[in-house]
Amino acid sequence: MHPEKWLSDTAKGTRASDIRELLKLTARPDMISFAGGLPDPLLFPVAEYQQAMDKVMSTYGRQALQYSTTEGLPQLREALVAQLAGEGVECPDGIENIILTTGSQQALELLGKIFINKGDTVLIEAPSYLGAIQAFSLREPHYAPVEMDGQGLDVDLLAEKVAELKREGRHPKFLYTVPTFQNPAGVSLSIERRKALVELAEREDFLIIEDDPYGRLRFRGENLPPLKSLDRSGRVLSLRTFSKTLAPGLRTGYVVGHPEFLRRLAILKQSADLCSPALTQYIIQEMLQNGSMERYILEVIKSYGHKETVMAEALRKHQAATGAKWNEPEGGMFFWLQLPKGLDASTLLFQALEVGVAYVKGSAFYTDAEGGRDCVRLSFSQPTVSQIERGVERLASIIQAARQVGAVK
Ligand SMILES: Cc1ncc(COP(=O)(O)O)c(C=O)c1O
Repeated sequence: MHPEKWLSDTAKGTRASDIRELLKLTARPDMISFAGGLPDPLLFPVAEYQQAMDKVMSTYGRQALQYSTTEGLPQLREALVAQLAGEGVECPDGIENIILTTGSQQALELLGKIFINKGDTVLIEAPSYLGAIQAFSLREPHYAPVEMDGQGLDVDLLAEKVAELKREGRHPKFLYTVPTFQNPAGVSLSIERRKALVELAEREDFLIIEDDPYGRLRFRGENLPPLKSLDRSGRVLSLRTFSKTLAPGLRTGYVVGHPEFLRRLAILKQSADLCSPALTQYIIQEMLQNGSMERYILEVIKSYGHKETVMAEALRKHQAATGAKWNEPEGGMFFWLQLPKGLDASTLLFQALEVGVAYVKGSAFYTDAEGGRDCVRLSFSQPTVSQIERGVERLASIIQAARQVGAVK
């Protein structure tokens, strides 16, 4: 039997995620992993989940164990409409502007199906969230990557890219962006650029997929308006998730957008999973109402904020040895290091794993072969404070050694 011969072209075209593969290697007991972008499980309020589950079972047990509607529980969607209004995001069609999804990852996959025909142009940030690249790539788009800096996506460069595409006879379908505490770069799009971006999309007529899993996890600085709050014509689709504000095990997210897009999404969702689990939607609603979600978010902000400070200090302490550069994040989970020229994060990773520290190499977040070779993503959410200090020290030692070898050559 040759399993390969039975596969569709789509399945043949898929490749294993670097990150998922790497996570297997990091199981070594003394390994300090800055690799996975996972929440700290020690912060999960297990007792509060237990209480919420008891309440859900005693009050709504029979409905919670049943199939839900494809769009999700109306009462949860109503609560989300009210919450979004507090962020300046209007839902003119009420709950018709919201659909629950099985994590925002499912939304990415389904939006890829809704919008991308083979060869369609998709604008993305460079670097960009690996899971989105994986989901969209199934549809074989033509990617048009646009560079970022400390203020997020460079909107002037984006305008130039759109003009260049126009000259080639290409019209982008949408821009995919993580505007706040970006994964992997950790940076946020400034308010001026947010306004300019929505205006550009309006003028040049493309859609915006705004993916915002980290916006609530701000430990410093001013809140920034979601792109959706600046949208006047329904061209922004906003993806949210409870993975970072409650727990990824709930596998629940939602999309806010134009009802016509969401109607299509619901039809495709039916063939994917019929509906997202009613049980977790009831639990989320309960935790939203009884205040445990808000309490948890505050705990997370306190803990990650402290860990971020520790990582920033450790990076500064070893800066002379590493020669690395970075932008300090004001929230979220990630640092993005730019190594000195000539160092290859891929080669260095083997040495890092040998000394017991793991990271994700920057090239995993690019759609072209060249991007991000000298970059590294470090996640600070899961390791302890002392692991962060020791891990950065280990990392610094191998970077320093690699620089010396380079200098000798
Ligand atoms: C930018 C971004 N989008 C989407 C996801 C997927 O999240 P979910 O757990 O909701 O599927 C992640 C997960 O890390 C992410 O970083």
